[in-house]
Amino acid sequence: MSQAVSWQTQDGVMIVTIDNPPVNALGAEVRQGLWDAIGAAEDPGVKAVVIHAAGRTFPAGADIREFGKPPADPWLPDLCNRIEACDKLVVAALHGTALGGGFEVALACHTRIALASAKVGFPEVNLGILPGAGGTQRAPRLCGAQEALTLMIEGKPIDAPTAMAMGLIDGVVEEDLLEQAILLAGMLVEEGKPLRRSGECRDGFRDPIGYEAAIRAARAVKRDPNLPAPGRIIDCVEAALLLPFENGLGYERAAFEDLVASEASAGLRHAFLSERRAGHIPEAHATPREIAQAGVVGGGLMGAGIATALLGAGLHVTLVEADRERLAAGLGRIDDLHERAVKRGRLSADAREAEWDRLGGTTDLAGLGAADLVIEAVTEDEALKAGVFRDLDRVMKPGAVLATNTSYLDVDDLARVTDRPADVVGLHFFSPVQAMRLVEVVAAAKTAPEVVATGFALAKRLGKVAVRAGVCDGFIGNRMLTAYRMAADILLEEGAAPAEVDAAMRDFGFAMGPYQVADMAGLDISWARRKRLADSRDPAQRYVAIADRLCEAGRFGQKTGAGYYRYAEGSRTPEEDPAVADILQAERSARGIEPRRFGKVEIRQRCLFAMVNEGAKILAEGIALRPSDIDVVMLAGYGFPRWRGGPMKAADRLGILQVRNALRGWAADEPFWTPAPMLNDMIKNGRHFDDMNAEEAQKS
Ligand code: CAA
Repeated sequence: MSQAVSWQTQDGVMIVTIDNPPVNALGAEVRQGLWDAIGAAEDPGVKAVVIHAAGRTFPAGADIREFGKPPADPWLPDLCNRIEACDKLVVAALHGTALGGGFEVALACHTRIALASAKVGFPEVNLGILPGAGGTQRAPRLCGAQEALTLMIEGKPIDAPTAMAMGLIDGVVEEDLLEQAILLAGMLVEEGKPLRRSGECRDGFRDPIGYEAAIRAARAVKRDPNLPAPGRIIDCVEAALLLPFENGLGYERAAFEDLVASEASAGLRHAFLSERRAGHIPEAHATPREIAQAGVVGGGLMGAGIATALLGAGLHVTLVEADRERLAAGLGRIDDLHERAVKRGRLSADAREAEWDRLGGTTDLAGLGAADLVIEAVTEDEALKAGVFRDLDRVMKPGAVLATNTSYLDVDDLARVTDRPADVVGLHFFSPVQAMRLVEVVAAAKTAPEVVATGFALAKRLGKVAVRAGVCDGFIGNRMLTAYRMAADILLEEGAAPAEVDAAMRDFGFAMGPYQVADMAGLDISWARRKRLADSRDPAQRYVAIADRLCEAGRFGQKTGAGYYRYAEGSRTPEEDPAVADILQAERSARGIEPRRFGKVEIRQRCLFAMVNEGAKILAEGIALRPSDIDVVMLAGYGFPRWRGGPMKAADRLGILQVRNALRGWAADEPFWTPAPMLNDMIKNGRHFDDMNAEEAQKS
């Protein structure tokens, strides 16, 4: 008997326990254990089998870390078939999150009973694959095409009562799951009815016309061509109706194997594991501080967004603004965000009221005396922020966390103006806060481990992904963005049009190109920053002044109807603008640049490789803990196409040698492209970024 699966028989019922923390993933040891358990059930003394799991959940899926490695016997599809074929009744007892392969094991059992709090579903599509252990064949036989397709294409878990209404599970209990499952098994054996095998069930085929209509409707939906899984899911669900069960399983297997080998799935699996790995920080052993009352200083777009997120997580929030007028405007922004959430069905009217009751506002920082945490989100101005921190230091209670939402400023400098640098941390949110999942937790030199851990715990509570960053100008995200933008700006100066750069990056998978984003965000804020930093700029570094020229012409982006593009009155659709072409041409002439054309591939490569090069520098400086953290930042904060896994993953796939050689070639004309020393070292030692991820994982 393996450690991961054990069993014992009581009064003819064999109780099989899966115990493979943290989520009882169906790795090789679990599969072998279940295989052996079903073999042992052949014992004439066994009348029925109950499969349940220890710990927090019934298996949450196949073990994602095994994908892409040589398959180990027994395969999950074979195991599911063996369970289904067992001539003793097999009951699955579900709690926690019975997902993916875990739910497929459950569907292969003859009866399913679940705790009411349990969730079931098929999230495989989020990993670029499909349920590959019979799920696409068994689920539609139980619940029909429409619901099976929704479950598999949306990938969202559903609760046990809903699954029962759909016919996917047979019973729901409030408590004593295992006892109830054993009782049920005894009762069913007593009744002596034939076993109900999902593979033989035809309930879901009762309305073949409706079934086919659901398939057609699903096919008619326009989908991202870079993501092949939904289309293959539809094919498999259709095959369930058309083919005998065994052939359907074979059809599903072929589709699964194609998908698991696809670039999209490799990227999506990397993204999933990277987001979890980002939580493995040196401070993970520290106990986060309790946060119930929070303060937010600054009620602008960011401050209001942060306050709304904190309210949504159940905290009491006090918003602080400089005067009554600005406070009213800040509270109004929170109200607007609530209004939008209600309209979109994300917030109920009751919840909105409850959140509003937990919100207070003041123009006096002293009102934050009871707060456990404050997040400063005032204008990005060093003196202003330092002043706020000095005042916060005076009014905050001992042990409170003082966080800054700065995008660029030195968190050590802000910590130094207080008498409690250990309590100071950066919590860098991304705009719009309600849509962007990323929070950079910036650990300054003296930040206490439990304060960093508090940042991570808070991000999790807000449903966001936290990435640890060290102190530098722009941390991880804005440094990457600056490199990306520099590459794009050089392309403009040397001959490309904004629309060409944007189209190439959309083709790469971004929803918007860098100049569409710039026009949407507004060009004035970064212009102000550039003017502030003008004196400290390194004159040896290339400076592309196109954005300055646009701003000088009053082109601040969508808000002024013109930026890198022009916009018709009230429209957000970018149109190419000859006036921009003139500005570009004037800049090129002023610098003696003879414009040339750039193809899509070169545009993408320059933008991507600039990010990779900057990422390598960020790693060498220890600003990011590991390459996959940089990937997470770009995926969760900047819209980098998730299916590509992030820039560092993309570089691994292309090969570091190719990236370095291209950079080296471009560097002959422009030092910006000089390859980071780390890339040369990696080539010499035959290493990939993913090797560093694995090493870091071992350390933590
Ligand atoms: N395989 C391997 N490890 C997994 C895993 C899986 N399927 N699911 C979760 N884990 C690991 C995480 O990496 C994390 O590890 P660390 O503690 O080392 O960081 C740990 O379990 C806890 O995960 P979370 O931090 O995500 O915990 P949570 O409580 O927030 O969420 C969960 C739990 C809902 C199960 C979530 O982890 C999840 O959604 N997991 C993925 C489920 C999934 O996609 N299943 C389908 C797998 S593919 C499949 O099954 C294909 C098939 O048909 C054969």
